[in-house]
Amino acid sequence: MASVWAKSVVNLQVLAVFFCLMVCLPPGGGQKKKENLLSEKVDQMMEWSSRRSVIRMNGDKFRRFVKAPPRNYSVIVMFTALQPQRQCSVCRQANEEYQVLANSWRYSSAFSNKLFFTVVDYDEGADVFQQLNMNSAPTFMHFPAKGKPKRADTFDLQRIGFASEQLAKWIADRTDVQIRVFRPPNYSGTIALALLVSLVGGLLYLRRNNLEFIYNKTGWAMAALCVVFAMTSGQMWNHIRGPPYAHKNPQNGQVMLQSPWGWCYSMKLPPPREMLAREESSAWLALAWWCFSLVSCSPSSGPSTMDTPTASLLSEQTQ
Ligand SMILES: *[C@@H]1O[C@H](CO)[C@@H](O)[C@H](O)[C@H]1NC(C)=O
Repeated sequence: MASVWAKSVVNLQVLAVFFCLMVCLPPGGGQKKKENLLSEKVDQMMEWSSRRSVIRMNGDKFRRFVKAPPRNYSVIVMFTALQPQRQCSVCRQANEEYQVLANSWRYSSAFSNKLFFTVVDYDEGADVFQQLNMNSAPTFMHFPAKGKPKRADTFDLQRIGFASEQLAKWIADRTDVQIRVFRPPNYSGTIALALLVSLVGGLLYLRRNNLEFIYNKTGWAMAALCVVFAMTSGQMWNHIRGPPYAHKNPQNGQVMLQSPWGWCYSMKLPPPREMLAREESSAWLALAWWCFSLVSCSPSSGPSTMDTPTASLLSEQTQ
C-alpha cells in the first residue's frame, strides 16, 4: 500500500514538472513570466502602501522593488538616518515634510499605483548607500518607471530646501503626478496669539484706572529699540530659516550652538538629545539649556560646513 502511494506521489511530481515545462517553455513564456513578476511587484507595493504611506526598505527590498526591472511605477526614495544616535536633526525635519507629502498622495483621490514613496534608513540599508556612493543624508531621489535616474532625479535639497510643496513641485516635474499638499492644521500659533491678547487685555483691564503709562514716551522708545535690535540680530534669520538649535560635530564630538551672532562653540556639556531633535514637547528644556550654554560660549563664525544642512554619514560610520 505504502509503495503504491509513494509511486503515485512520484508520478504526480513528474506530472507537475511536465506541467511547468508546458507553461514556461513555449515562445513568449518569458514575456508572460515578466508580466507575472511585474503584477506581483505592483500588488506587493500596493499592499505595503495601503498599510503605511511611506514604505520602509532595506537593501534587499530596495534592489528588488526600486532598482530591478521590470517596473511600470515611479518610486521616490528618501535616504536618511533617523536613528537617534545619528543625531541628524535635519533628517527628522525632512522626514516630517516627507510624511506630509506622502500622506497627501496616499489619501488624495488621484492615488494610484503609478507612484510610491519609500524610505531607506542608513542603519537598515548601509549597503544601498555604499552602492549609490551616497555619503550624506537626507537625500531624495526619483527612480523613474523606465531607465536609470538622471541628474535631475536627485532633489536639490541644498538649493531649494525640503518643504513638502517644493518636493511636490519636483515630483510633478519628474513624473506627471500632481500632488496637492494637505497639511494637518496646526493650532499652536492661534492659541499662543489668543493667550497673548487675553493677557494684554487682562492687564489693561486691571489697570483701567491708571492708563497713563500708555502715554509714556520712554517706554515706547525702549520697546521700539528692543524690536529693532531683535530684527537686526541674527535671531530673525534663525526664526525664518529655522536651523537646528545645536549641532554636534561628528569628528570631535564638540557641540556647536546657534546664537544670534552666528554659530559658537560651547563648553563640553552634552545637550539633551531632544534639543538636537528640536521636538516641541521639550522646547522649554532646550531653551533653558540653550540660554545657560550661550552665556558660557564664545562667539565665532564656525566652520563653513555648518552652513550646509546635510549631516555627513561617512565620518560616523566608524562608530
Ligand atoms: C503596471 O503593470 C501591472 C501589471 O501588468 C498593472 O496591473 C498596473 O496597472 C500597471 N501600472 C500602471 C501604472 O500602468
